[in-house]
Amino acid sequence: MDSEITVLCVGGSGRYAGMVVPELAKRGVRTRAIVRNEDEAKVARSNGATEVVFADLRDPRSLDSATKGVDGVFHIGPVFASDEAQMGLNMVEAARRGGVRKFVFSSVIQPTNTDLANHASKIPVENALFASGMEYTLLHPANLFQNFAGAWKAIVQTGVYAEPNPVDRRLARVDYRDVAEVAAIALTGDRLAYGSFELCSEGMLTRLEIGKLASDLLRKPVEVREIEFAGWARQAKLPYDARELAMLEKIHAHISEHGMPGNSLTLRAILGRPARTVRQYVEELWRGTTAERTASGSRPGV
Ligand SMILES: NC(=O)c1ccc[n+]([C@@H]2O[C@H](COP(=O)([O-])OP(=O)(O)OC[C@H]3O[C@@H](n4cnc5c(N)ncnc54)[C@H](OP(=O)(O)O)[C@@H]3O)[C@@H](O)[C@H]2O)c1
Repeated sequence: MDSEITVLCVGGSGRYAGMVVPELAKRGVRTRAIVRNEDEAKVARSNGATEVVFADLRDPRSLDSATKGVDGVFHIGPVFASDEAQMGLNMVEAARRGGVRKFVFSSVIQPTNTDLANHASKIPVENALFASGMEYTLLHPANLFQNFAGAWKAIVQTGVYAEPNPVDRRLARVDYRDVAEVAAIALTGDRLAYGSFELCSEGMLTRLEIGKLASDLLRKPVEVREIEFAGWARQAKLPYDARELAMLEKIHAHISEHGMPGNSLTLRAILGRPARTVRQYVEELWRGTTAERTASGSRPGV
């Protein structure tokens, strides 16, 4: 595939999906970003989108217009939306009706973990793809490095790294820039067709280990602490309603009990290079070189 193709990008202005647009642009692919207002249109264009289309995942007719003349679709479900599954089903159906060939779904690690509603909401979308006749690729990213950007600000200001889970839990993590690269590879060739890929960086650092990295870079002590959920959510000024906060609390409860491990083999094999590491990401934050918008996303997720 090459510049002759057009890919429709859900969330072309979003803090994660927005990283897929430049990866596709780098490969000479035309991108059409779904946006819902002029501000998002501006952001999508600045991300490198060739064109924008005003459409809504809750409005199947708008998705029919959006998929006209499109060869591939990149889809991501908006974090914690109560109808996330239905929005995904709408996108899959519209792509199928529109004769789209490739569909890449940015899902989540452990999508079959039905204890977590935001994981389980990916299952119907994946199932629909299996029966869609399209060439699908399912991406299962681990906890995103970008979640740490908010904690970094607090560490710099207060010297405390506090989260509502034990300091020694092991968590698989991944940089969404690597996920975006995998999405672009999937959309521009056949190597990843019909695959489901767990995407994790190497090492499953505990918060204690990450705190040590931060402390070494900042040359000051960093206290790593467990904090109760409500206080943490208040402090972090999370922009979530009660239902969304309850979903997030469940994720932290799960991590507290089980951690969330994952396997790094697939990501390295797909990229043909080592994945970005937590250490590199923390160093970027320290140097102030990581994109500010990843550090200030309006709706931080897990
Ligand atoms: N955070 C993690 O550690 C992690 C790890 C693995 C997987 N995940 C998964 O990754 C996803 C991240 O979601 P996100 O919201 O943060 O991603 P995002 O990159 O912000 O993309 C979601 C995009 O969809 C847009 N959108 C929302 N409602 C829409 C609608 N009705 N019609 C069209 N577009 C709409 C959003 O626009 P607005 O910004 O205007 O709402 C946003 O641009 C979630 O599914 C989460 O489960 C997260």
